[in-house]
This record gives sequence, C-alpha cells and structure tokens, in this order.
Amino acid sequence: MAVSAESFAFVADLVRRRSAIQLAPGKEYLVESRLLSLAREDGAADVDAFVRTVRSSAKESDFARIVEALTTNETSWFRDSAPFAALQSYVVPELIAARGTSARLKVWSAACSTGQEPYSIAMTLADCLPASASADILATDLSEQVLAKAREGRYSQLEVNRGLPATMLVRHLSRVGAEWQISQALRNLVTFRQHNLLDLPPIGGPFDVVYLRNVLIYFDIATKRAILERLRRVMKPDGILMLGAAETTIGVDDAWIRVPVGTGSVYRPNRPLAASVPISTVPQPRTAPYSSVLTRGAHS
Ligand SMILES: C[S@@+](CC[C@H](N)C(=O)[O-])C[C@H]1O[C@@H](n2cnc3c(N)ncnc32)[C@H](O)[C@@H]1O
Repeated sequence: MAVSAESFAFVADLVRRRSAIQLAPGKEYLVESRLLSLAREDGAADVDAFVRTVRSSAKESDFARIVEALTTNETSWFRDSAPFAALQSYVVPELIAARGTSARLKVWSAACSTGQEPYSIAMTLADCLPASASADILATDLSEQVLAKAREGRYSQLEVNRGLPATMLVRHLSRVGAEWQISQALRNLVTFRQHNLLDLPPIGGPFDVVYLRNVLIYFDIATKRAILERLRRVMKPDGILMLGAAETTIGVDDAWIRVPVGTGSVYRPNRPLAASVPISTVPQPRTAPYSSVLTRGAHS
C-alpha cells in the first residue's frame, strides 16, 4: 500500500524541522522506498502502518531513524575534481603565502557523508602542503550512520572504483579482506563529529577552508541564506568556501565574492562577520511550535 497523505505530511514535516530537507508533494515514492526497510525491521505490515506506530509511540530514536533514512548520502572520491584541483593550485598557495610555511590550516568538510570528501581533501593536502605546515580537518554530518562508516574508513571495491585514482589507492589504503581501509596516518588528520547545519557552527574554527557541497540544494532559500550567514562567522576573513557544482551564493547571500579557479569557482567572504556580532543577530531557522518530541536535540 502506498504511503497515505497523512503519513507523508507527518514524515515531510518531521524531516523538514530536523534537517531542513524539503520533501515536496510528489516525493511520496521516496518516503515509501526509503522507509520500507525500517518498516520491515520493525515487523510493520507496510510503511503507513510503521509511520502510524511511530507517531503514536513518539520515540526519539524512531524520529532519528526516519530523518536518517530520508537523507541522500550520495558521494564519491574527488567528486567533480575542480574543488580538489583548486585546493592544490589556488587555496593552499594563497593561504601559505598569507600565513607562512609553518601554518596550521583548519578545514571543515560539512555534510561529509561517508567520508570520501574529507579523505580526498586529506590526500590532496598530503601532496601540496609544505613539509613544515599542517592541517586539521573537521568532518561533520547530520547522520550518525554515515559518520560511523566514515570513521572506520573502510570501503568496498565498488566504492573505491568511484573516482579514487590508482596512485592514491596504493598510497593511502590497504586491503582488508574484500575491502579497502584508509591508512591510519590519513585517518589521524580527520576528526568526525555529528553536526546539524541548522544548529550553530561546530567548535574548532575559525576555519581557513570550508567544503559545503551538495547539501544546500536540499534546502529552501531562507535556510541556505541562514547557513551561509552563520558560516561567515566561523570563517577566517580571507577563508575560502567550496560549494557543489550546482550550488552558488549568488542570489542567496550577497556577502561572498565568487572567484573563478580552473574549471570551477571558490567563494570568499566580502563581509566577514566580526566575532563581536552577537549570535542572536544571525537569523536562525524557523522553529514554529509543533510538538516537544519533534524539537531537534542539541548537537555538539
Ligand atoms: C549528497 S551528500 C553530500 C556529501 C559530500 N559533501 C559530497 O559532496 O559528496 C549530503 C549529505 O548532507 C547531509 N545532511 C543533510 N541534511 C543535513 C543537515 N541539516 N545538517 C548536516 N548534514 C546534513 C546528509 O546526511 C548527507 O550525508
């Protein structure tokens, strides 16, 4: 049985409030297919019955499972290539020129999914940072499930085949049974932490470089703008932002300058928010009252 209009409305509202992901009418098939395995796990007759039980029992863990199931975790190594080429050809040279050869760069990979993005950043930095410089990479995502995989750093042959050059494979991964594991040295460069982009930015900044790729596309314009404004608070004034190929700050938050680099673009704040700007002046996501059980928990 297809998911009912009532169940769809409940799930869409839950997911929007907790992740800002928009499930517009017409996405019923997505809810149906993504929640089917949860319904089966719980022994429910179908997705509609599963949603009805979740609504009546109102368990936090069920709400979290539903939100996780509706996130899209699609990713790959060196995805779109341009943001990694730019890191090597433009970002690192610029930042090292400004900070000196013993700089310690802080990089944030926000919405990192299963880790291919931050590990691709780490591999690129291993090739282009001066020996006396170093980097800390913070990688965050809403989903605990993808973070667990990212921390483990183990990938199937199929996953490895999606964009990882053979030279990088032999340098940075080793075989473990049928899988490949990221080297300990590379894993040491990356700290994984749960973080919801609707919350205040994570501690660990101010950041020199932020990768925020292929996640703004799921949000409405007010949410995109609020996230970009909060981001400026935790970026160095000359920091650099990388967005996904289908994403831009233009027409969303005009306080960024687009800099064409190679076949892509990077963004720099043209109006960094001074640390003295009170946090309350930064627009927060709408938090219309609904039900206390649907209020997002705090994320560190
Ligand atoms: C399509 S993946 C992009 C992964 C990677 N950045 C890339 O470009 O390959 C989108 C990721 O955003 C995460 N996400 C969705 N909503 C989020 C939110 N509100 N806060 C943090 N992460 C979120 C999802 O869990 C998912 O892993």
